[in-house]
Amino acid sequence: MRVLGIETSCDETAAAVVESGWRVASSVVESSLEIHRDYGGVVPELAGRAHLTTIGPVVRRALEGAGLDPHDPAIDAVAVTSGPGLIGSLLVGLSAAKAYALAWERPLVAVNHLEGHLFAPLLEAPALRFPLLTLLASGGHTMLVLQRSAGEHEVLGETIDDAAGEAYDKIARWLGLGYPGGPPIDRLAREGDAGALRLPASMLGPGLDFSFSGLKTAVVRQVGARPDLGVADVAASFQAAVVEQLTRKLAGALERYEVAGLALAGGVAANGQLREAVVALAADRGLEAHLPSREMCTDNAAMIAAAGLAHAARGDYAPLDLPADPGWSLEAVH
Ligand code: KG4
Ligand code: ZN
Repeated sequence: MRVLGIETSCDETAAAVVESGWRVASSVVESSLEIHRDYGGVVPELAGRAHLTTIGPVVRRALEGAGLDPHDPAIDAVAVTSGPGLIGSLLVGLSAAKAYALAWERPLVAVNHLEGHLFAPLLEAPALRFPLLTLLASGGHTMLVLQRSAGEHEVLGETIDDAAGEAYDKIARWLGLGYPGGPPIDRLAREGDAGALRLPASMLGPGLDFSFSGLKTAVVRQVGARPDLGVADVAASFQAAVVEQLTRKLAGALERYEVAGLALAGGVAANGQLREAVVALAADRGLEAHLPSREMCTDNAAMIAAAGLAHAARGDYAPLDLPADPGWSLEAVH
């Protein structure tokens, strides 16, 4: 089977072709990040407009990159992210996918963006073993997921307030480091003293949910009383608290569930310190660690095509009047 995937849920316009065996034949990602940078976050209206001009050329490049005829490609289905995400952005990808499906007479597959992220580790390690415990941490979501096989998942815990990436973005904005906040904080943290601030540990109990909103308040309050502190020390202290909570919950889940490996997914999975902590945790328990490359951690269409391939293989297709679902939760995906 060969599936074309289309992803436009946030600021990335992406298209990719994935074949059976989790082989990525092509993957094209165009980001409108530069347009949003000065606003301190993604501006939905601007993101939607950018998708409109980029979607056609991006799909064409993905098809040509896979050696396919862009007018009548030899694909079995068109998979598209129909939620969760920004409504105006989702609608652009969804409308394009429906038009291609209609014109080429191929079935349409609806993919949940979060389920897509769960397929990213498979694309770089097609032989990985299940069950797998995945920490999915991005700008909009932070959750622990148990995958019994590709496409069979159970959400074990999730954030009760902000997502981990959202916390990075808020602190970075407050420190004047721009958007997105993860990369500059990750970089600065390496030069700072992680013990400079005494940040409260959140969610110490045995539950597997996360919380990051109190952290920002604590950082702002403590830095206000310590004007001498350098920005690197603040970054290092904040990052240590985030990574500690993420790792503690991963370790807690490992005590309750038997798995063959650990995986990271979502933009925060690019974080250097988190990656080191997960490698150490896996090594300690004799488990495999699957850390996707930066391109595979952040939004792309190869992961959407992969999830679409799994649905298409089961004959799970969507009607052409499929609506966008901006709040579609992973729990509702089967
Ligand atoms: O998955 P993603 O590309 O987009 C969605 O939110 O779906 O994730 C983006 C998030 C942003 O909040 C960004 O600050 C964060 O991932 N991020 C990082 C790093 N790189 C990106 N957070 C921590 N450390 C990083 N190196
Ligand atoms: Zn994402």
